[in-house]
Amino acid sequence: MKTIKRIGVFTSGGDSPGMNAAVRAVVRTARANDLSVVGIRYGYQGMIKGDFVEMDGSSVSNIIQQGGTILKSARSDEFRTVEGRQKAAQNVLDAGIDALIAIGGDGTFQGATKLNEEHNVQVVGIPGTIDNDLSGTDETIGYDTALNTAMEAIDKIRDTADAHERLFLVEVMGREAGFIALETGIAGGAELIILPETLNNLTDIKANLNEVFRAQRRSSLVIVAEGGQTGGAYKLGEDLKEDYSKFEMRVCILGHIQRGGSPTARDRVLASRLGYAAVNALVDGHTNAMVGVINNEIKITPIKNTWSKKKSINYELLDLAKTLS
Ligand code: F6P
Repeated sequence: MKTIKRIGVFTSGGDSPGMNAAVRAVVRTARANDLSVVGIRYGYQGMIKGDFVEMDGSSVSNIIQQGGTILKSARSDEFRTVEGRQKAAQNVLDAGIDALIAIGGDGTFQGATKLNEEHNVQVVGIPGTIDNDLSGTDETIGYDTALNTAMEAIDKIRDTADAHERLFLVEVMGREAGFIALETGIAGGAELIILPETLNNLTDIKANLNEVFRAQRRSSLVIVAEGGQTGGAYKLGEDLKEDYSKFEMRVCILGHIQRGGSPTARDRVLASRLGYAAVNALVDGHTNAMVGVINNEIKITPIKNTWSKKKSINYELLDLAKTLS
């Protein structure tokens, strides 16, 4: 293992609120340790193109409160190829970068694992995704902000649902995981929450809906996770139309609104802690690992375990949601 003098930092995959706070923490902690920092723009795509920029403490001024990412992000098909990764690794070497800090989600960490296995590039990951679907951390950067954004939207939808006495299917993000759906459903007082982990077939969904309607509700709000076999809220709406024709049904997809906005205090603090921890982990000789927070303590997990071991939703919360709905 070589001594680290120069770090490359990048954000990759779907952006999440708080990524900027993490970049700021990485740059400032690195400078405090006399390490130089190179920002890699547009994630792995920028690594392949050599889109590198020198960073100092002032290049991250005034960004802790900003959503998005000043380093930009991308999903790179080229990086999925052996040739793409070869180019990326060569550019990292040519730029004199000793180690990388990757801020992103499961796709980013799968890429980092490959880069390490094939080219021995040292890397430490910081979990940044609204999906919260990575093992090795209780929460990922951006999840809390996304939850609050979705909850505010749901509160507004409830007003109009109630005024018109309608049934609303509200779709939230989360790819294949139901974390956002479960917690926004509880926070927004949803009548039913449809998760890929639990409710995946029409018969069960209808049985649950019938239970909701037995409570003689005039308006209802159902949260639908985008992933899983329901095919999303539009498809589900189509599938339910006939059987529930006596209810006026509307579908609302919250979509990318959940990815933007100023990060919550909780996300800013998490991002600052993890950026600081990632640099310190590299300095202490860790590599091929992700820093996370579990039970309020910094934990270091082999990067492969973060995406190959599926993180489970909290099933106790499901029972709670059902009881309170
Ligand atoms: O991974 C974050 C996420 O927002 C998922 O929840 C969603 O499925 C996906 O990214 C959308 O990706 P894109 O912005 O590339 O359409």
